[in-house]
Amino acid sequence: MRTQVGIIGAGPAGLLLAQLLAVRGIDSVVLENRSRDYVQARIRAGILEQGTVDLLTEAGVGERLHREGLRHDGIYLQRPGHREHLDFPGLCGRSVWAYGQTQVVKDLIDARLAAGQRIEFEISDTTLHDLDTDRPRVTYTDRAGFPQVLECDVVAGCDGYHGPSRRMLPPDLQQTWARDYPFAWLGILADVAPSTDELIYAWHPDGFALHSMRSPSVSRLYLQVDPHESLESWSDDRIWSELSHRLAFEDWQLQTGPITERSITPMRSFVSAPMRHGRLFLAGDAAHIVPPTGAKGLNLAVADVALLCEALAALLLHRRSELADAYSDAALRRVWRATHFSWWMTSMLHSTGDPFESQLQLSQLRYVTSSPAAAQSLAENYTGMPLH
Ligand code: FAD
Ligand code: PHB
Repeated sequence: MRTQVGIIGAGPAGLLLAQLLAVRGIDSVVLENRSRDYVQARIRAGILEQGTVDLLTEAGVGERLHREGLRHDGIYLQRPGHREHLDFPGLCGRSVWAYGQTQVVKDLIDARLAAGQRIEFEISDTTLHDLDTDRPRVTYTDRAGFPQVLECDVVAGCDGYHGPSRRMLPPDLQQTWARDYPFAWLGILADVAPSTDELIYAWHPDGFALHSMRSPSVSRLYLQVDPHESLESWSDDRIWSELSHRLAFEDWQLQTGPITERSITPMRSFVSAPMRHGRLFLAGDAAHIVPPTGAKGLNLAVADVALLCEALAALLLHRRSELADAYSDAALRRVWRATHFSWWMTSMLHSTGDPFESQLQLSQLRYVTSSPAAAQSLAENYTGMPLH
């Protein structure tokens, strides 16, 4: 089989890249080792930057997002006794949207399959070859168990943190940076109307809590927990009572409801450079991970793909390599900005048990909610810096 761009991974990065390439008339095949149901059900991010919404719209998959997505014009930052609102349009002229990653992925898969373009689900043995030639190949075993070869002009490694693409970089050319945080998030999805109009990020001496949402009838909430914590030790009652305790404010009440999904996610920062080797280009979690506090993971994957799509269009349609050569440095500039912002939000909001650090965090929270300059800096990072 032959295609112009072999895309590994049907997450947001791979699927959006395929869609944007198709709009430009560039052929691709998406290879995914999980099933369609699994990929569409994986609960992850929930906040889209304006630039992400614009790009999805431009790619022709914005229709349901505009109908069902919830525009948020700010967030609440909370510390005991204070819940303060940051008004994003007033601070930086932009908003964000609550619309689940599961929905983005579903919209992209539906659009691609409806247009008769290929996604190979449930493949195995994904292996990349000849990346330093202009005829790279991907070999794999298809869902029926038959060995397959995909010949391409370019391979896009959009296979997330655990995928094989990043491991193809020669060790002497690759540099990595990592930070593991001493806490994790216990996340739940619940069939209950959100108890807030916009997200609440709450600092609390017993640990951070976040109230987010997926729709007018589905809430998404998180608790900071120990990374070694087991889900079994968190009954529904314990989860709701800890959320109510950490999110408590004056006479505000947290509404509870049936929990439909729960998981514990460790938190880390990770960056790998360069994001290109020969005819292999990395995008999204394949090259970098951020802790979720800044709501940046999905948006960064989308920003990579916006740059990569332009670079591949210039390379494949016009034989111009300047953008492809500039891709890694351009993407990494944004990656490091988001890495810093995510680390900063994480450091400001999570309790470490160190009394000195708690006072610094409370001072920072007072500052960011009272100084227009500090609030503006948070707002422009949270809503997303311009692509270029
Ligand atoms: P992914 O979504 O990881 O997609 C990669 C795809 O590649 C997957 O479908 C995978 O199955 C496939 N793949 C892997 N190996 C192979 C192979 N060998 N062959 C073929 N295909 C392969 N971000 C937030 O902003 N907020 C959150 O609350 C949040 N929660 C998260 C929870 C979890 C458990 C995780 C893992 C991430 C979370 N993130 C969150 C981050 C965000 O979801 C990611 O940044 C986003 O999914 C990145 O998209 P991606 O397409 O780069 O990678
Ligand atoms: C989510 O809704 O899942 C979510 C929102 C904001 C974050 C992280 C996760 O910072």
